[in-house]
Amino acid sequence: MHQATSVTELRQYVQHWKDHAQTIAFIPTMGNLHAGHISLIEKGQSLSDRTICSIFVNPMQFGPNEDWDHYPRTLDKDIALLEANGCDLVYLPSASELYPEGLERISHVQVTDLTDDYEGAHRPGHFTGVATVVLKLFNIVKPDVSVFGRKDYQQYRVISKMVEDFNLDVQIIGQETTREASGLATSSRNQYLDDAQKQQAALIYQVLQRTAQQIDKGERDFEMLQARATGELQEAGFKTDYFCICNAENLLPATTEDRDLVILVTAAIGQTRLLDNIEISLW
Ligand code: PAF
Repeated sequence: MHQATSVTELRQYVQHWKDHAQTIAFIPTMGNLHAGHISLIEKGQSLSDRTICSIFVNPMQFGPNEDWDHYPRTLDKDIALLEANGCDLVYLPSASELYPEGLERISHVQVTDLTDDYEGAHRPGHFTGVATVVLKLFNIVKPDVSVFGRKDYQQYRVISKMVEDFNLDVQIIGQETTREASGLATSSRNQYLDDAQKQQAALIYQVLQRTAQQIDKGERDFEMLQARATGELQEAGFKTDYFCICNAENLLPATTEDRDLVILVTAAIGQTRLLDNIEISLW
């Protein structure tokens, strides 16, 4: 597996592959890789000739009270995992190259409509940081396709909207969430859970599934379903910031006319805030 740390170096590899008519899939990450990331790499491999993964703990998407310094950095393990899974190149940009004048002076990408609520409300400025770094990475790597996990559903929609709004020439693929046997969505944050908390966390997906089944069977009182699910999670000891049945495209609260829905939820156990969702098609 090749490694590139500068834009110039990265572009040399990409140019060489493009000269040989090879297509490129790109998977941006912040490292601390797990099975969910590997499924993104595998998806990329199935769609293109070459797969590039970037590892960059992007300071711009962390709020002042969020711990950028303490974000888990496991570079050697990540590189070994990427190598073992046949990734062609890992790109390890430096903050000084991506943000040469610091975070204050860089132009920002503000994706409208999708970023005010849910994670956007909980983490002001977060999606501006995500969209800005992803646009930069797309312009550096120039991939044909880029794969994002549907677990971070709002992020996946934000990136898709940015690509649409700015006519970017890259296809965005939303990869299905990888789950543990209990149904718990695979996430870097799961490492902060002890065994009992992990067992407890399985309830999140069970509640999502039960709510989705009720909608599937024809229940359309979304407020009642949301209140019931939130109650169930809170009774089990979770703190929920939101449990919202939404239109899957614009993420507005669902109406009875909507056919493609997504239920977005965050549920925290202790200090660990878990995100999950379930998509429902009523066609
Ligand atoms: O999902 C992530 O890990 C990050 O938000 C991303 C897309 C790599 C941007 O820093």
